[in-house]
Amino acid sequence: MTIDILLPRPTLPIVEEQLDAAFTVHRSYKAEDPDAMLREVGNKIRGVAMAFGAVDAQLLAKIPNVEIVSSLGVGYDHINIPDCKAANVMVTHTPDVLSDEVADTAIGLMIMTIRELGQAEQWLRQGNWLSKGPYPLTQATLRGRTLGVFGLGRIGKEIAKRAEAFGMSIRYHGRNPQKDVAYPYDDSLEGLAEACDTLMVVAPGGAATEHAVNAKVLDKLGPDGIVLNIGRGSVIDETALIEALETGTIYGAGLDVFEKEPQVPEALLRLPRVTVLPHVGSASQATRNAMGQLVVDNLTSWFKSGRAVTPVPEMT
Ligand code: NAP
Ligand code: 8YV
Repeated sequence: MTIDILLPRPTLPIVEEQLDAAFTVHRSYKAEDPDAMLREVGNKIRGVAMAFGAVDAQLLAKIPNVEIVSSLGVGYDHINIPDCKAANVMVTHTPDVLSDEVADTAIGLMIMTIRELGQAEQWLRQGNWLSKGPYPLTQATLRGRTLGVFGLGRIGKEIAKRAEAFGMSIRYHGRNPQKDVAYPYDDSLEGLAEACDTLMVVAPGGAATEHAVNAKVLDKLGPDGIVLNIGRGSVIDETALIEALETGTIYGAGLDVFEKEPQVPEALLRLPRVTVLPHVGSASQATRNAMGQLVVDNLTSWFKSGRAVTPVPEMT
């Protein structure tokens, strides 16, 4: 018996090839009218493979017999979990296989921001080294800094481990103290911001963390403060961040994620001590392939045994 899978957007070749080999794949992004296509085949769809785009009651109503949504990425704030639970739909994600890659990127982003490496490279490329001389000394240094991790989970712990090797002191905040680490725990985000000078955001997105990094938190971080975001754009109030940077309330920022991707506010791009990356935390071929394999494995395991490999925590 064939099993029908919905692919709302193009994805990695290793995913598409394996899905084509094992299932009947319906690519709604190729349809002239995706809604008309769903009206035609929606009743047959039993699984969805996706990377981003909302999954909610509205979509689920169009595919009433769907059993599983297999999502590429560890963050799943684009998926409405209560809606999926109400429709008895399993949701899976791709944890662990990307933690090292994302932690490496986070450390790169931190050093780029503090030592202005992107700006220094532009200085060379634009001929300024020849015409004007050396790039100005950076007023910030990694030396003596304290890293405050907001969200010391799988990725946060890998970042902390790496930052320790750079001689940084580590502390953290989340909803609960973590049992397997000896770093000091701050029971509020404002407390963490006050106690550190380099705030690394790696908490998940969603309603519970929306704009958690607000004007008050930035004020506590202070004039030497650097904010880094490798988690989700929604966790930082971008308007408050721009204001804090413009007024010198904090020193600088390094951002891999933004509130309205791929839109990045002009004001952020104009600020001198800001490093911006286009959401590349996990974006190596090897890591994305490992994530893609989990997307496939979750679907094949589900339809073979009724068990998912990496369900989101709410489904366990
Ligand atoms: P994880 O293991 O679940 O860690 C998340 C951490 O955040 C946990 O320590 C958790 O601790 C804390 N947390 C959860 N909800 C919270 C809340 N409402 N308030 C405060 N703290 C909260 O997840 P992970 O694998 O490390 O991934 C973390 C996030 O990174 C993902 O959700 C995703 O958004 C982002 N990410 C970004 C990229 C990128 O390319 N930039 C790549 C991968 C992941 P408590 O439960 O104790 O609160
Ligand atoms: C990916 C991510 O960019 O895993 C996540 O939560 O943000 C990144 O690894 C994204 O999920 C790919 O769709």
